[in-house]
Amino acid sequence: MGINDEDIARVRSTADLVALIGEHTEIKRSGRSWMARCPLHGERTPSLSVSPEKGVYYCFGCQRSGDAITFVQEIDNLDFVGAVESLAGRYGIQLRYTSRDEGATRARKRTLLDAVGKAVTFYHDRLLTGSDAGEARGYLRSRGYDGAIVRQYQIGWAPDDWDQLAKRLKLSADDLRDSGLGFVNKAGRQQDAFRGRVMFPISDERGDPVGFGGRILPGHEGSKYKNTTTEASVYDKSRVLYGLHTHREGIVKAGEAIICEGYTDVIGYASAGITRAVATCGTALTEEHVKLLKRFSADRLILSFDADAAGLAAAERVYAWEKEYELDIRVAALPPGVDPDDLAREDPAALDRAVEEAVPFLRFRLGRVLDAGDLSTVEGRARTAEHALEVVAEHPDPLVRDQYVVEIADRCRLEVVRLRELMTGERRSLARRPVEQSDVPSVGRLTAEDEAIRLVIHRPDEVLGLLAPALFGDPLRREAFTALTHDDGVIAAADRVGDEAASLLRRLAVESSDVETDDVLAGLARGTADWVLRDLQRSARIAAADTDRQGYAAAIAWLKTQTEHLAERSTREAAIVQLLPWLTEHAEGRAG
Ligand code: UTP
Ligand code: MN
Repeated sequence: MGINDEDIARVRSTADLVALIGEHTEIKRSGRSWMARCPLHGERTPSLSVSPEKGVYYCFGCQRSGDAITFVQEIDNLDFVGAVESLAGRYGIQLRYTSRDEGATRARKRTLLDAVGKAVTFYHDRLLTGSDAGEARGYLRSRGYDGAIVRQYQIGWAPDDWDQLAKRLKLSADDLRDSGLGFVNKAGRQQDAFRGRVMFPISDERGDPVGFGGRILPGHEGSKYKNTTTEASVYDKSRVLYGLHTHREGIVKAGEAIICEGYTDVIGYASAGITRAVATCGTALTEEHVKLLKRFSADRLILSFDADAAGLAAAERVYAWEKEYELDIRVAALPPGVDPDDLAREDPAALDRAVEEAVPFLRFRLGRVLDAGDLSTVEGRARTAEHALEVVAEHPDPLVRDQYVVEIADRCRLEVVRLRELMTGERRSLARRPVEQSDVPSVGRLTAEDEAIRLVIHRPDEVLGLLAPALFGDPLRREAFTALTHDDGVIAAADRVGDEAASLLRRLAVESSDVETDDVLAGLARGTADWVLRDLQRSARIAAADTDRQGYAAAIAWLKTQTEHLAERSTREAAIVQLLPWLTEHAEGRAG
């Protein structure tokens, strides 16, 4: 599995990012970087920026970022190793594999899958025959699950004991942990992960069981559902869909999948005769899920959450997926507070109707806004119209937007022309929004912290010696800066940090900087000085001894003078050199 680090580095440095991207879209030079229409999300105006010098790209439209390897992963749908292998093949680089080879990795995966499969059988048998499973059987019966359902979904019972499964399976400590079935406790003994729960086995799309959702029985202590840990190596909740393998035929036949929140909803749908439902397992719908469903020829996805949850689904991602995967994403409007499982039992015909009458995502969102608004007063109609326009503005298609604008005008009794003007404003502020939302300032009014990081990326020799993590007040920027202090380049730094900081680093790497170094350093010093000053003033107020108070007063006076010097061209440089180390020392406490 593992590829030699040096070889990975060679692949990265050999790969021509501009040429690679140029194979998928037209790419043009723009100053020191290159701009292209991002091939990772459909768009009309170029917002993908590439820095060949740093070997990274950042898309201002979809915020995807990375290096040559990430690009190949995304565009060709490959995992990391696959992408490295593909690039190595293209550039004739011989790869050395560090540890176990592919075969060993596969064998290990098989072992873990077998273990989960055996656990499914163990729990299932236990439910059917165990003398301790009477309460669980009664509970399932009370939910309307007959023997056929229990067998079809291989529902099970995890005994309320420490280690019955572990004792039966006799796995190594590593296999027990990596299968997610158990762990070794502090006393060094193997212990089961699930105890006293009704077990819903979760399979991947091939039908291999990869994990479980376990429900506590009513009246017993514990969280209602517990899922296989995300640490388990064969279970990846952002990829797996409960019921997909079981209901794949129904999905393929209808060209449609219904997406619900949980196991019981999927089973509820099936018992109402609708056999094309799947569920995410304790996570929001991801792009991986969408791609997976697309593979099963689902061209229409029907979100079947309770009304409040459906309204909360991230609109921008939904529209982006619709476009990118040529999907029609709709919402089955269920009564508020009612889930499909409830409806399946109480009124299966109503459930059927909700799916039949599922409405486009935007229609659903707009309906909720209009229904909630007060349309009885002039002020109420104006407010409702504004809110409604915000929702409609998120849709990327102008023709679609305009039809809804006409409808809003009608419902709120306002001039269409006037609303169209407002819509133009909404769109404009929306174009700026991703930037503002993530608190990343746009070009032109970048914060000193971003500019400082950019300087470190582009001119490390000039500034690295003067800067320290404590000078960065924003935790994300502090993380990004700290990663750069190893001075081994932005790709290595991005590898060391979380996704958000990595994305920030890549964005700053593709943007070139024409700001004066001193302006940046002065800005950074001023930002930190403000904070340190407040801290000193607070300390002075609460200081008990006179001498302490005098000490604080002197420091405050000095800091104020130096800060004033920052503003003067003639004294600026000296002030920076004095202030930065002093501030670093005083600010170190806050980095915490
Ligand atoms: P419910 O809360 O309706 O679960 O969530 P339920 O078992 O049907 O409970 P009752 O009988 O109505 O009170 C519906 C689905 O949401 C998921 C489960 O998959 C469940 O099937 N869920 C719910 C979780 O994953 N975790 C939770 O904490 C709650
Ligand atoms: Mn329920």
